[in-house]
Amino acid sequence: MEKKDFLKDTIEHIDIKKYNVVPMIDAMKDMAFQARNLNRGAEIFNMMQKDKECAVFLTLAGSLISAGLKGVVVDMIRNNMVDAIVSTGANIVDQDFFEALGFRHYKGDPFQNDAVLRELAIDRIYDTYINEDELRVCDETIGDIANSLEKQPYSSREFIIEMGKYLDENDQYKASREDSIVYQCYKKGVPIFVPAFSDCSAGFGLVHHQWNNPGKQVSIDSARDFLEITKIKIHNKVTGIFMIGGGVPKNFVQDIVVAAEVLEFDVPMHKYAIQITVADERDGALSGSTLKEASSWGKVDTTYEQMIYSEATIAMPMLVGYAYHKGSYKERMERRLNDVLSTVEVKG
Ligand SMILES: NC(=O)c1ccc[n+]([C@@H]2O[C@H](COP(=O)([O-])OP(=O)(O)OC[C@H]3O[C@@H](n4cnc5c(N)ncnc54)[C@H](O)[C@@H]3O)[C@@H](O)[C@H]2O)c1
Repeated sequence: MEKKDFLKDTIEHIDIKKYNVVPMIDAMKDMAFQARNLNRGAEIFNMMQKDKECAVFLTLAGSLISAGLKGVVVDMIRNNMVDAIVSTGANIVDQDFFEALGFRHYKGDPFQNDAVLRELAIDRIYDTYINEDELRVCDETIGDIANSLEKQPYSSREFIIEMGKYLDENDQYKASREDSIVYQCYKKGVPIFVPAFSDCSAGFGLVHHQWNNPGKQVSIDSARDFLEITKIKIHNKVTGIFMIGGGVPKNFVQDIVVAAEVLEFDVPMHKYAIQITVADERDGALSGSTLKEASSWGKVDTTYEQMIYSEATIAMPMLVGYAYHKGSYKERMERRLNDVLSTVEVKG
């Protein structure tokens, strides 16, 4: 078989607008286990949407965008259901920006011989294939963007704005950029933070850039990310967090309550918190630590918190679809936190 035989059936992003899941999720209230947890999580997410004071943070870990969840996130952005995103680099660069450049993910087979795939330069994420040659173009594009910038430190948020600008200024991406998280966030002023920015396709581009520009390079300042996202908490006392998976994004957004306290601001804990995850708490790691546990650290209030133990491709479209079809987001305004961060000077 040739490479093209493996790369023919594309992953399609689910469109939550098409399926009214409200009656099903309402009925889950009287079930048990994760169905009841999903119902409560959906109710809490709906409360976050109704609460006009509440700034909503979305965190993304795992391979969500390659798996068909990009449309869910883009619908949240378009409808002001999310005000800031914290993610792993893979979701934002290798997967979303990659698709914005016109490339696609393909349906694959988890039992395929990986040596054959390696020969053909096809990368596999469980049952999904990626053309590695195209991923190299994504790496190089990040290097090109870095080469075009003033040589100084940037927060990942600032660099990702430049990625949105790049898509905006190049009409060859006119069709493919429209349903991109990076592009829609650029347009709507929604900040995206990727605290471990180099741990993905972006890293290859930045390594190439720094190797070729010794002493005068672009670098990514993760402390600046932390300060910027803490400023959002200082300016938005009421906050809710919707976490998909765990990892660095989960901890980063929870810690901003403590960081604001370190700067001597009296801020409340996150008022609402929901996590969809497959990790449990037995290993003591952050990814599966309960939100009740987070309250012992002063990060999350326990009144409106819910863990949902489910793989995200199943639970996320249902939960966001519930709030979408309830329509409670309609009263929400654009917060344009990117504009706020570039204009407001927070003093201690
Ligand atoms: N995932 C990839 O394909 C990929 C590719 C390139 C680079 N990376 C980098 O590797 C690092 C780790 O990222 P990661 O993707 O492994 O996430 P992660 O290790 O940060 O994920 C943390 C936890 O989230 C939970 N989780 C992940 N996917 C889930 C799902 N579908 N449903 C429910 N819970 C889920 C799991 O409990 C997991 O242990 C990041 O810096 C990322 O940029 C990842």
